[in-house]
Amino acid sequence: MVAVWILLILFFIPFAFTFIQVTFSKDLKTLEEVKNAKEEIVHYVNLNETVSIQKLEKNSELPNSYLEEKEDPLFSFNSNDCPIEEWNNIRTDSVPNLSRHREWANMSIGRRNYLYHDSFALLAAFVFKDQITVTMTSENQFNKTVYCRYYDCRRKEIPDQFESFVYPESTVFCARRAGAKYISISETLEETPEYSIPIVPRIEKPSHYLTVCMATLYGDEPKFLQIVDFIEYYKLQGATFFHIYLREVTGYDRVLLDDYVRTGDVEVIKMHDHFWRDDFMWHNAQINDCHHRNKYFSKWTAVVDIDERIEMRSDEFKTITSFLDSVHDPNIINLHFKVQWIIKDANSPAKYENDQQLTKEMLFHKFQNLSQVGSFWEQPKCIIRPEKIAMMTIHAPMSIYSGIRRSLVNETIGVVRHYRNVEQRVFAGALERMMVHAPFSIQPIIRWIDEVLTSSILNRIKWVYDIVNVPCSKKQAIYKKHGGINAPCWLEQQKNEPQP
Ligand SMILES: *[C@@H]1O[C@H](CO)[C@@H](O)[C@H](O)[C@H]1NC(C)=O
Ligand SMILES: *[C@@H]1O[C@H](CO)[C@@H](O)[C@H](O)[C@H]1NC(C)=O
Ligand SMILES: *[C@@H]1O[C@H](CO)[C@@H](O)[C@H](O)[C@H]1NC(C)=O
Ligand SMILES: *[C@@H]1O[C@H](CO)[C@@H](O)[C@H](O)[C@H]1NC(C)=O
Ligand SMILES: *[C@@H]1O[C@H](CO)[C@@H](O)[C@H](O)[C@H]1NC(C)=O
Ligand SMILES: *[C@@H]1O[C@H](CO)[C@@H](O)[C@H](O)[C@H]1NC(C)=O
Repeated sequence: MVAVWILLILFFIPFAFTFIQVTFSKDLKTLEEVKNAKEEIVHYVNLNETVSIQKLEKNSELPNSYLEEKEDPLFSFNSNDCPIEEWNNIRTDSVPNLSRHREWANMSIGRRNYLYHDSFALLAAFVFKDQITVTMTSENQFNKTVYCRYYDCRRKEIPDQFESFVYPESTVFCARRAGAKYISISETLEETPEYSIPIVPRIEKPSHYLTVCMATLYGDEPKFLQIVDFIEYYKLQGATFFHIYLREVTGYDRVLLDDYVRTGDVEVIKMHDHFWRDDFMWHNAQINDCHHRNKYFSKWTAVVDIDERIEMRSDEFKTITSFLDSVHDPNIINLHFKVQWIIKDANSPAKYENDQQLTKEMLFHKFQNLSQVGSFWEQPKCIIRPEKIAMMTIHAPMSIYSGIRRSLVNETIGVVRHYRNVEQRVFAGALERMMVHAPFSIQPIIRWIDEVLTSSILNRIKWVYDIVNVPCSKKQAIYKKHGGINAPCWLEQQKNEPQP
């Protein structure tokens, strides 16, 4: 970091001096004075001498010294101004479906009593037209009475709290407050709540048709190839946005994730809070957050892990979205897919080397030995209508507002291809449990998907990792501009070819 700053300073000093010389040439009499000003790259502003500044600028040699007459109205606000947008000028007295939430809470539906949090550990908040939903990473606050605490755009508390309770686990529904931009939760009105978090708008018509939630990434298996396969695969199936939950990946893998963030395909949600928890213990909190995050954001959301590909099998529906397009019964709110397991008996590579290497390592080329189809109750995966569901769990909704809890998808239409790494990392006996679904047989993925996916994976990976290089002499020419320092490759060459 320090090195970067030094480089930046070295690079800009020559420009800074040119600037000072031009701007202040009327004030500073001699070149010596300019030199004495070396350390003072500061523009003094006297509020009462705007006129003289104008004179100075008009007389200066700056070629582009256009001066404004009036302050831009868009920016003519002060530090305390906090105007309220029309869409946010709403106050409500209650939250929807409150009595049903009470009922479910009274029956302890979804109570977890998990881990040891002594705070709510807020994760995110979303404002819908009739409520604000706060998600948390604690899983031991079920049915607790709490207060929603609202803050304006300058994080000043809006003293109009709302009493609510934790339901479902890791969630609080709050009424709306005009101008609320940040929110926190507290157990009493007197205590200082934990850090407030921004409230993300979900007011417009849902902007996506199919999105995908990817369960939390963690563990030591390299991920970049599985991540690019996952995203490019579901894009082929019609998905247009991904919520990827992150515990940790290597710096190398992170570059790919961030490139997908850059192109607007992905939002990365970092899973971290103030409390002890092993990496694999984030799953429930992740599912809950992704469920609420996708309400009124997408019509359909697939809730899957990095190693799961929902695969369409019929001639009628070639992609997931073509299948979903056929569903118009408003009571179908959860499509439930059976699973076929694939033995994944090797780790994916840590780095891109070349096209041949990568093509060979692609999951759908390297691992094709499929089990029989499991039953509907063996680790099924779902595509849901998020706003119809009150509480979501890993394999199915727990409580729903309306519709049919599970609509089973016939395996001739679709199944989940689940690449199961059999190296025993967290859960022992993965291989044994999979062998229950023998016999296994080689079943490659369908040809057109293989072709399109292979090329889209190669394109993305090369764009991200195959950095265009230049000869050392060209690098040296650039380094030299930064105060005459040398390129590392240049120094290396000098060492290897000592001057006589
Ligand atoms: C600037 O001018 C105003 C009005 O003429 C005067 O009240 C104020 O004290 C001046 N401020 C400074 C810093 O000179
Ligand atoms: C839940 O709340 C929404 C929004 O107010 C309402 O449209 C819906 O009818 C409610 N559902 C049930 C089953 O009460
Ligand atoms: C929940 O239980 C409380 C106390 O037992 C009761 O007052 C309330 O009416 C119950 N609410 C529902 C919706 O059943
Ligand atoms: C939930 O909280 C309400 C209100 O505090 C209470 O009446 C009810 O008994 C609680 N239910 C359970 C199952 O804890
Ligand atoms: C699944 O579809 C196949 C082919 O249409 C059919 O033979 C089978 O009965 C269906 N299974 C169920 C459980 O509906
Ligand atoms: C597929 O897996 C089964 C079960 O482990 C194994 O017996 C079989 O030889 C495998 N098939 C191939 C072609 O590798």
